[in-house]
Amino acid sequence: MFTGKGGVGKTTAAAGTATAAAARGYKTLVLSTDAAHSLADAFAQEAGGDPTEVGPNLYVQQVDTQRTFERTWVEIRSYLLSVLDSVGVDPIEAEELTVLPGAEEVLALLEVRDQVRSGRWDVVVVDCAPTAETLRLLALPEALNWYMDRVFPAERRLVRALRPVLGKVAGVPMPRDKVFDAVERLHAELAAVRLVLTDPGASVRLVLTPEAVVVAEARRTLTSLALYGYRTDAVIANRVFPQAGADEWRRGWVAAQAAVLAEVEASFAPLPVLCSPYRACEPVGPAQLGAFADELYSGLPADTPDPCAVLAGAEPMTVRHTEDSYVLSLALPLADKREMDLRRKGDELVLTVAGHRRQLALPALLARRAIIGANLVGDRLDIGFARDLP
Ligand SMILES: Nc1ncnc2c1ncn2[C@@H]1O[C@H](COP(=O)(O)OP(=O)(O)OP(=O)(O)O)[C@@H](O)[C@H]1O
Ligand SMILES: [Mg+2]
Repeated sequence: MFTGKGGVGKTTAAAGTATAAAARGYKTLVLSTDAAHSLADAFAQEAGGDPTEVGPNLYVQQVDTQRTFERTWVEIRSYLLSVLDSVGVDPIEAEELTVLPGAEEVLALLEVRDQVRSGRWDVVVVDCAPTAETLRLLALPEALNWYMDRVFPAERRLVRALRPVLGKVAGVPMPRDKVFDAVERLHAELAAVRLVLTDPGASVRLVLTPEAVVVAEARRTLTSLALYGYRTDAVIANRVFPQAGADEWRRGWVAAQAAVLAEVEASFAPLPVLCSPYRACEPVGPAQLGAFADELYSGLPADTPDPCAVLAGAEPMTVRHTEDSYVLSLALPLADKREMDLRRKGDELVLTVAGHRRQLALPALLARRAIIGANLVGDRLDIGFARDLP
């Protein structure tokens, strides 16, 4: 998965990596969860809603979210429409209101899952939307768990009991079982998406350009991705100016970028930082993308030269035991203690880091044990649990 701030080169890096993978003989699919489809533009070819062959071993897919939308959301939506209608909202306005934000990306993720599970591909490359949307999306499956475990069953029972009464009295249509079924199905599907995306064979590559503002955002993104349990395996520094020439403008940029790059190397270590030069023209079309990727991945260490391997990155979550405790250890690179909050709610941990929250269901081993301490050690948050049961 490739993500990063808007315009830094996510689509180009995704398309380039797919090109490199195909050239190495991997059967490769590249698709986008970004509603603004620009993958086909990067390849300078047409691509459809189904995987379209654009070269040997290389397929591009522009996910047709409208089609899946009709299938998955139609029940939820028609319920919402009937509610809005009953309270007097203009039908056209209601149509607008029921276009759920992020629905397109969610549906694109379902397609990613289907393609990964189809067994048809050696490598699936995902061109993600800019950071903020991607994070919201990646947090969704687990966030829904909470609602599904706590609120949903009660709501369903309540609605079942009240439907005959309320439907008549208030004139508000109560959701039918079909609606609940649709929510349940969606939840199960998103849980499956999370499994695919947090698999040890999956990783995120964080794309940035060597500018202070972009790097600051990338640092926060790395922390948030880890918070949600996703593995980042490399940083891609794109649009790096080649060595300084004669003129002052260029010397200025080269010096400024060099300073930022040094900081990137230091702060993202031990992640590999792969540099891609600012090219003389837009890397568009298979030949240009291939050249882009060759330069990008020429910086790979000699012992892991395959751009399709998971390159590095800490284990997102581990449990170990000491003499008198269990330790749940979560990767949280670049996290700031002052921006962190940890609470326990029954058998869940509620962990907030810099405004992002994760509701983490504790593994069964720890669910009934008392927390005896928490410590940010280097890039990991270690939470201690009593060895003895209360
Ligand atoms: N190394 C490079 N040298 C020259 N041009 C580049 C380089 N990398 C990307 N570009 C160009 O920069 C523009 C933005 O790149 P791209 O579309 O890959 O960014 P993005 O992060 O996907 O943007 P968005 O956030 O809009 O999806 C494109 O025109 C692309 O061809
Ligand atoms: Mg893009």
